[in-house]
Amino acid sequence: MDVKVKAQDLLSYEGDSLVVNLFEGVKQPGGATGAVDKALSGAIVAAIRRQEFSGKLHERLLLHTFSRLPVLQVLVIGLGKQGEFGVDRIRSASAEALRRLRQAGARRVGSVVHGAGAGGIDATQASAAVTEGALLGLYRFGKYRRATEDGERGLQQLTLLERDRNKIGSLEEGVRLGRILAEATIFARDMVNEPANALTPSELAGRAKKMAGGLGVAFKTLERAEMKRLGMGALLGVAQGSEHPPKLIVVTYRGARGKGRGLRLGLVGKGITFDSGGISIKPSEGMEAMKGDMAGGAAVLAAIKGIAELRLPVNVTAVVPATENLPSGTAQRPGDIVKTMNGKTIEVINTDAEGRLILADALCYACDAGVTHLVDVATLTGACVVALGSVRTGAFTNNRDLMRRVREASEISGEKLWELPLDDEYSEQIKSDYADMKNVGGRKAGAITAAKFLANFVGKTPWVHLDIAGTSQAEKEQGYQPKGATGAMVRTLITLAMGFAGSKQA
Ligand code: BES
Ligand code: MN
Ligand code: ZN
Repeated sequence: MDVKVKAQDLLSYEGDSLVVNLFEGVKQPGGATGAVDKALSGAIVAAIRRQEFSGKLHERLLLHTFSRLPVLQVLVIGLGKQGEFGVDRIRSASAEALRRLRQAGARRVGSVVHGAGAGGIDATQASAAVTEGALLGLYRFGKYRRATEDGERGLQQLTLLERDRNKIGSLEEGVRLGRILAEATIFARDMVNEPANALTPSELAGRAKKMAGGLGVAFKTLERAEMKRLGMGALLGVAQGSEHPPKLIVVTYRGARGKGRGLRLGLVGKGITFDSGGISIKPSEGMEAMKGDMAGGAAVLAAIKGIAELRLPVNVTAVVPATENLPSGTAQRPGDIVKTMNGKTIEVINTDAEGRLILADALCYACDAGVTHLVDVATLTGACVVALGSVRTGAFTNNRDLMRRVREASEISGEKLWELPLDDEYSEQIKSDYADMKNVGGRKAGAITAAKFLANFVGKTPWVHLDIAGTSQAEKEQGYQPKGATGAMVRTLITLAMGFAGSKQA
């Protein structure tokens, strides 16, 4: 969908539909909504008076204009209470409004920039949020379906209307930023939604290569032979059950050549293209969701895409260990002991705790490559889903300052996270009788013991681990989040890199 900004009065817009908004409880709307109400002979105020509409969050009032305006319909979207308003509500209001209009058959829609008026939000931030909400909320993974619902034609153009010419530049800057953030997120969503018969480790590498090539970003993969040479026994152990060869995908963006203080951000993402559990096989119910077990890998690749498109003056390396976790005659067994790249040995008690195994070698690889800060993203544990549900990503760290930066980025992005502790005592649970550690720590504190395990492979490098098991896929549509892959943490990682680049944060 095309998104543009136009210096034009709302009332003269000649597309199919218009979007205006209302804060909850406002009885006599002013500004754009007031002007539209007047043009419609008081239809909005009448609906408010008759209590058909009150401006509650995401409440929608669809009015026909009967030629009182050039457009066919006006949609009023509720913004909720003014005191609770913020950038994330702009994203979700934009999404909810446009989905309704798409359903109503609209192709060209004009909209106010929610929040930029009475909301008091900076014009660039507001237009970025409207754009993100629009593109993310209208996203569908339709490639395997013959037709979309009810003969919809799909929204083709969104025009942000602003009378004040002095604001146009700022609004356009926001649209550019919002589009880059949304398209990166969609790049990740498309990979997560893709079934595992199509998105093999090679295909994941292929998509990363294509993305990197288009942006002049360095790309390479390590093949099995190279992994052996480097001693990546944990990654190879997981990969040995699959017919598809594993790939270690490495993408490096250098935006701070010569500049910066030698800072280099490492992003490591779990890339299990299908997790059957291996010999410790999972129950069949819901196993199809495990095609999304590469969501962390998709997130870090997508982050590189966004960072490169923004040309941020920062150096970033993404590392994605990609393989399937399948049972077979060659698969790894419970009880097997593997050795990682940094020489530590692991007793594999449960082959379904494969994420931490492949990440162990990938984290070692990133540290060896000289990254100064590390963030890993992984659909790592069911225990994290038990703890935080699908609302917040679990976050863990060995470094307060990096956690502060990640948290700030997540707040700007509207991607909620919650920190969980990493006390020394938890290490007790992953002690092995036969090796340096074992890959499961029992029923208690499963998300934490998984993170404690990973801590063995980052050395002293400042590190944040993000467990997106609960947040990478949505069971139902809400706000700018359709059902299915969310692209969780993509916008947070890009915003984090903006912080590192010292550039203006959006
Ligand atoms: N990929 C799963 C974790 C997961 C669960 C992601 C639910 C998304 C939704 C991971 O590889 C896994 O199987 N973890 C096990 C670990 C256990 C065996 C210690 C789990 O959480 O059950
Ligand atoms: Mn597993
Ligand atoms: Zn897994």
